[in-house]
Amino acid sequence: MNNKKFTILDFKRKKENGEKITLLTAYDYPMAKIIDDAGIDAVMVGDSVGMVALGYDSTVGVTMEEMIHHAKAVRRGVSRAFLLGDMPFMSYQVSDEDAVRNAGRFMKEAGCNAVKIEGGREVLSRAVAIMNAGIPVLGHLGLTPQSVSKLGGYRVQAKDAASADRLAEDAMSLEKAGCFAVVLECVPEEVARKITDMLEIPTIGIGAGRYCDGQALVTYDMVGYFDRFVPKFVKKYADIGNDIRKAAMAFKQETDKGDFPDKSHTY
Ligand code: KIV
Repeated sequence: MNNKKFTILDFKRKKENGEKITLLTAYDYPMAKIIDDAGIDAVMVGDSVGMVALGYDSTVGVTMEEMIHHAKAVRRGVSRAFLLGDMPFMSYQVSDEDAVRNAGRFMKEAGCNAVKIEGGREVLSRAVAIMNAGIPVLGHLGLTPQSVSKLGGYRVQAKDAASADRLAEDAMSLEKAGCFAVVLECVPEEVARKITDMLEIPTIGIGAGRYCDGQALVTYDMVGYFDRFVPKFVKKYADIGNDIRKAAMAFKQETDKGDFPDKSHTY
């Protein structure tokens, strides 16, 4: 395994060399360590933690305190990958000052390498303010879950020409402002392809088809640990939810019968 640290320069290098970027989410130490060991380029402490690990109905309720708590745990498990903190709803929407202060917490308290914010033209001044403080920013366009009420649900975005053009303009503005990459979530493959070709910075797709410069997934979806709602774009590479259920049932059965603990598990 290559132990070289993945830095901000590697995002652009990979795009230029036609190599794909990989990004997975993590919310705790063991998951972060496994993903880091597996050679994934970037680990994100996503605000998806609210839905897949904390049981909220959406990401809207996630707080800065929760994000910092999880980001600190993830930091302890990541030694090579690029670590991203996802700024939760209302940690950057109100003012540039709030945005800088909260982005700074991800860096100072949790040792993140960059932060992600959702939105295009409406958050440009926030992105610039955060970057002016020396903190790299990853953009996030398309389906932006913090705006789910405004979007009317978790649905594919940029389906008509006007909204696809608007999305492309937003992507260009984020690049011009200095973002180092942009996540495209739940947009038609051809829209993502056009934006990917247009931008010098990499696009990282999640439900945005085959032509993005990188691919992201929410790890709990990818390993079958969260099944309340699994979007079409998720590929399940493991089924640990069922493995845990089977293990719990076996433990109960053996305990009930007196087969556990046996001599080998006793002092
Ligand atoms: O919160 C999250 O998990 C995300 C994804 C894009 C990875 O924002």
